[in-house]
This record gives sequence, structure tokens and C-alpha cells, in this order.
Amino acid sequence: MSIFSGLDDLTHGRTLAATFDAFARVHLLRVGLELGLFEALRRPLAAEALAAKVGLAEDLVRSWLIACERIDLVRAGREGHELADLTRFLLDSPEAPALRALLDQVALGWGARFQELPQLLKGAARPHFGSPEETRRIAAASRVVEKRALAALARIPGTSRARRVLDIGCGHGTYLAGFLARFRDAQGVGVELDPVVAEDARRTLREAEVWRRGEIRVGDFMSAELPIGFDLILLNNNLHYFAPAEHAALFRRAFAKLAPGGVLAIQTGVVEPGRVSRWLGADAEMALFDLFLRCHENLHGLPDLPALHERLRATGFASTGEVAVWPGGSARYVFATRAETEGGEEATARP
Ligand SMILES: C[S@@+](CC[C@H](N)C(=O)[O-])C[C@H]1O[C@@H](n2cnc3c(N)ncnc32)[C@H](O)[C@@H]1O
Repeated sequence: MSIFSGLDDLTHGRTLAATFDAFARVHLLRVGLELGLFEALRRPLAAEALAAKVGLAEDLVRSWLIACERIDLVRAGREGHELADLTRFLLDSPEAPALRALLDQVALGWGARFQELPQLLKGAARPHFGSPEETRRIAAASRVVEKRALAALARIPGTSRARRVLDIGCGHGTYLAGFLARFRDAQGVGVELDPVVAEDARRTLREAEVWRRGEIRVGDFMSAELPIGFDLILLNNNLHYFAPAEHAALFRRAFAKLAPGGVLAIQTGVVEPGRVSRWLGADAEMALFDLFLRCHENLHGLPDLPALHERLRATGFASTGEVAVWPGGSARYVFATRAETEGGEEATARP
């Protein structure tokens, strides 16, 4: 064996070790958050003191602590172990609940599906997505970009003067509530397929004190009784619930519900390589998310952007555009604007 191939082996071994660490990191983080171990480490503690404080098995706490130190989740100091920057961020970030839900989603959602991947690849029936637990977890995790998304939405021409808003697949209602709280003279309707989730959305509107200007209807957007004349229609994080073959009908119906000059804003992840997305790690996350989506019988992959724009233009929208939600655009709004005055095909789109 030459010295170079020996070095190669070591380098690959190192990369593999980092891969195992990344896997373990998710689990050790969840344990630390769930059992209050990190909370207890806001002040430096030795293993015995930590075990006593949280009332857990001392030998396992010591071993967990050493493992956490080796993968940079805690630091060893003179007075004991203390939080590393990442762990402190996970505790103190305003987005802490969403970040914890993301960790849960990776461990429980991705973990379960990716274990089934060999069977799925061989053609086994794909599971249905949408248990209450899964829906809640995904909704909580997707709030990690919500503030940025609402700010991005405001950068889409025409959205800040929208007074009548329809939120398709409004989920737990946080976007609709956020929009109505930001624009005090706007009125909104959310339509949600799942009655339990819709009830949560009503609660969200009440808690945000915007319920007088917001209404939640239970039903399928494609068939529900809904008014027309909206200035803004939102489709946040749910285009993948519609098969590409259904997009034409979906966009036609949205178009028909818009007032002239109205905007359809579609928030979606995209599997687009790009230097910023790569640097942020977001391009790999989106590729993994796309794989996760496709593992379900009722979900579809993230959209092909040129095809999406083309489909929107073919529906009759006068113009389309994009605004990044996450730097690099791994999450973005694709928007389409209905002309102020129109004739010909644009006016002929029907629900
Ligand atoms: C991933 S969640 C996103 C929720 C919310 N828009 C957000 O971004 O937080 C997708 C939601 O769309 C709902 N949904 C899917 N297809 C729908 C349809 N055809 N009509 C109404 N709601 C739908 C699902 O029930 C689910 O609550």
C-alpha cells in the first residue's frame, strides 16, 4: 500500500466518523433538550452534579456529557461542562420551538421514512402522510422561516396593499394570523382540508386577536364554496400536496378567485444548487426534503421552477416573479399577478 492510499483510507475514515457524529448529534441534542440537561448546563456543572440536578442515571449522564463534548455540543471548562454556542442558540433563539420541531422531524419523520427507503425503492406501497402528530410537527418546524417569509411576502409587488386575502391550506393559521396582525385593515379567509387542523387555525386567529377579520373554512380548496375577488392568495408550503398534473386546475381556480391586479404567492422549497444555498447547507436539506416528500403516496416532489412559471403564464397570469425567503433562495415565493385589465384568454380562466 502506498503512503497516499493509506492517507486516503484515513481521510475517508475521518469523513465517515463525521457522518456517524452527525447522526448521533441529532439524538444527543434531542435528549439534552427533552430531559432538561442543557437547561441545567446554563451554569457549568460536573457530571455528578448534573446527574443529581436532573435526577438521571449518573454513569449515562457522564457518558452523554463526554460524547456531547466530543461532538461540540458542550464545552469542558474549569468549573465543569457548559453549553457550546449552538446549544445555547437552540435554547434561546426566538425560533427555539420551531428548531426543536425540526430536530424531531429529522429524527422521527425522516428517520422512519429513510429506513423504509430500500422497500420503497423496490416498489412497496408508499405510506400516507398526515397523522395529526406528523402534521403538527411539520407545521411547528416550518415556522422556522415564518418571520422571513412574511417579510419576503411584503416584498412582492401588490401584497402590502392587499385587503382581501385567501390562504389555501392554511394549516394552523399562523401565516394568516401574521398577515392580519401586520395589515390591520386586511380581511382573510383560510381554507383547510383537515378539520382538526382548521380548529387549531381558528384558535390561532383568536389568540392573535384577529378573529374578527379572519374566517377559517374546512374543505378542499378545489371544491369548497369560496367567495371571489381576493387581492392576494397564499399557497404556503403546500404545492407539494398537489400532483403536477393537478397544477393547471389549481392555478385556474386560484386565478378565478383573484380580483384584477391580484397576486398568487406560492411559498415553496426548491432543489436548486447555488453557492449561497450550498454554503448554508440548505441545498442538501431541500434535496433530502424532496426525497422525504416523494416517499408518500399523497405528496409530490418540490417543483421544477421553469415549468412552474410556464404553467402560471399559461393559466393567464400577466407576469410572474420570485422573491427569496431564505438567503440563496432554497425557500422562496414564486408569485404570479393577474392583469389589472384583461381580455382574451386571461379572462376566461374558470374555477
Ligand atoms: C405543510 S401544511 C402548510 C400549512 C401552512 N400553509 C403553513 O405554511 O404553515 C399543508 C396544509 O395544506 C392542507 N391542504 C392540503 N391540500 C389541501 C387542499 N386541497 N385544500 C385545503 N387544504 C389543503 C393540509 O391539510 C395541511 O394542513
